[in-house]
Amino acid sequence: MGELTRTGVAIDSNLLTRFDRFIRKQGYTNRSEAFRDLIRDRLVADEVQDPEAVVVGTVTLIYDHHSRLLPEKLTDIQHLHHESIISTTHVHLDHGTCLEVIVVKGPSKKVQRLADLLIGAKGVQHGRLVMSSPKILPKAAGL
Ligand code: NI
Repeated sequence: MGELTRTGVAIDSNLLTRFDRFIRKQGYTNRSEAFRDLIRDRLVADEVQDPEAVVVGTVTLIYDHHSRLLPEKLTDIQHLHHESIISTTHVHLDHGTCLEVIVVKGPSKKVQRLADLLIGAKGVQHGRLVMSSPKILPKAAGL
């Protein structure tokens, strides 16, 4: 982590009022921390766009347990992309609904491709890929 540097930013007062209201709702007690988080979030979003950037993340899937051959298909896709997968957690939400969270790591383009295959599989009702970049987050340098 670098040294802390103070900087001043000119902001329209109406925009700042709205921002303060927003961050209070989010639970921030400190405007600086909210600014830092927003900046990191934007930098991470930019970094993960680079197809070669090494990312970490999760693919969350909700799917119908009774959808024909879907559980096998999702397992097959994961075996084919095992080098991008750190772990998988499966939760049986109810009699017919499954939740799966797949922790992924690797080049952005490979992680994105894997997520597309999983989320696009017939019978997956909802899916979301969340990617982060350890490079942008010095506190997570051990990853
Ligand atoms: Ni299940």
